[in-house]
Formats: sequence, C-alpha cells, structure tokens
Amino acid sequence: MNRAPVGIFDSGLGGLTVVRSVVARLPHDDIVYVGDTARVPYGPKSPRTVRRYSHEILAWLLARGVKAVVVACNTSTAHALESLQEASSVPVLGVVDPGARAAAQATRTGRIGVIGTVGTIGSGAYERALRCYRPDAVIQQRACPLFVPLAEEGWFDHPATELVAREYLAPWLTGGIDTLVLGCTHYPLLKPLLGRILGPDIALIDSAEETAISLASLLANRGLEGPADRVPSHRFAVTDEVARFREVGARFVGAPLDSVDLVALTDTE
Ligand code: DGL
Repeated sequence: MNRAPVGIFDSGLGGLTVVRSVVARLPHDDIVYVGDTARVPYGPKSPRTVRRYSHEILAWLLARGVKAVVVACNTSTAHALESLQEASSVPVLGVVDPGARAAAQATRTGRIGVIGTVGTIGSGAYERALRCYRPDAVIQQRACPLFVPLAEEGWFDHPATELVAREYLAPWLTGGIDTLVLGCTHYPLLKPLLGRILGPDIALIDSAEETAISLASLLANRGLEGPADRVPSHRFAVTDEVARFREVGARFVGAPLDSVDLVALTDTE
C-alpha cells in the first residue's frame, strides 16, 4: 500500500499549491491530481452541487487505488468533507482543520481573520474548526471571490490585485486581528502581496503548507510513506482544457507539468 499514490483534488488549478507543499514534504510519493477544470469555480455553487462533484472525483481516485485523499479545495472541504470520509475506504483529509489548527497556534490575541470563497465563508466551516482549538477566539470573516481569477491570471503581484486586496482587507489595515487564514487554494500565491499590505504584525496562515504537514504525519503514523529509493511520478488529470492547465499550472507548482491527461469522471460524459 505504501507504493500506492496519494490522491489530491481541487475544483481546478488552485490545488496545485497543495501539490507543491506535498511534494516538498513527501518527495518519494506518487501523486494523482484531479482538477475539475470543466466545472470550476466551486466557490459560488450550492453545497449540494459541490458535494456531488466531490463524490464523483473521490470515486475516480479510489478506482485508481490511492492510499489517501487530500481535498485541496477549501470549498469542497467546507461542504463535503464529512460525507467524503464516510464514503471512502482510505483516509480523506481536508484543508480547513490543518489551517484552523495552525491559526489557533499562531494567534496571540485570539483575534483571527478568515478569507475564502463565498461558499467557504458562508458554510462557517473555519469558524467551527477555529472554535474547537480556541473557543474564545474573536473571528472575522470575509469572502474575497475576485482573488481567484486574479491568481488564475498569474497576477500575483499586480497593481490591480493590490487595489482589490486593499478593498477586501480594509477592515484589518488598522489592526483588529493578529492572524489571517488564507482559506482558499489560490490565496497562498498572493501571500507576498497580502503580507506587504497587512504588515509584519499579522501572521498569514497557509492551509496548503499545514495540510501537507498533516498528510505527512498521517502517512508516517500508518507506515504508508513512499519508499525512500523511489523516484515518484506526478500525474495530473483534468476535466477540460489540458493546454491551459499545463501552462498556468506550471506557474503554480514552480515546475513544468509533464503528465496531464483529459479525463471523464463519470460514464455519462
Ligand atoms: N478551490 C477553491 C477553494 O479553495 C477556489 C476556486 C473555486 O472557487 O473553485 O475554495
């Protein structure tokens, strides 16, 4: 089983930030990544639809013999994690809990901000997770939907992105929080810009990094890490637009994506 791949999925490209962190933590593990590029974005969609899409991807990954699944998409995690865990024969990990845990550890004052998609913020998933670790936390949340297309465009440090960020982050420019959870796959790409705007007194919590740490310890605890002599394979499957995924994805991962295939998740496609 330790030679089996890790499955990672997202609504599209953004989950590649999680892939980047997982590759750094687990350099000997195979990865199969699914990006549902035909149906992205999940952020504005209903919980029911996001759950249906997420279950289709889980079934596809399980059919490929994965040893664990990482739901890299915050919106999928927020709406579907529990039902995916119930349906899965292998461990399923989301991005919300690791990010919330890290934020609870980082905060000094207990005043924590959360940014994410409309779906993630509306679900209250981060708020619930943060309260488990820090019941007295004062939590302020804000949906920042425009960050997703700006990051997809590669405008990680662009004047337009800065303008939008200053608008979204305005309530926190004069204080109010000491920790901000980047609760969306795409936001870690904007971290240098957000850090510059918010200043050094606000800790930025990157769920991608925290999730990779959680995955590494889950695999280590179960003796499931890839063998150390292994040159891993990283395969990417998308539901639409291979060429765009390859091009923009390379920017997300920081290296060319060699193996990208177009797949159908269900028999009806
Ligand atoms: N992957 C989504 C998330 O982390 C962002 C993109 C989308 O809306 O599908 O919430």
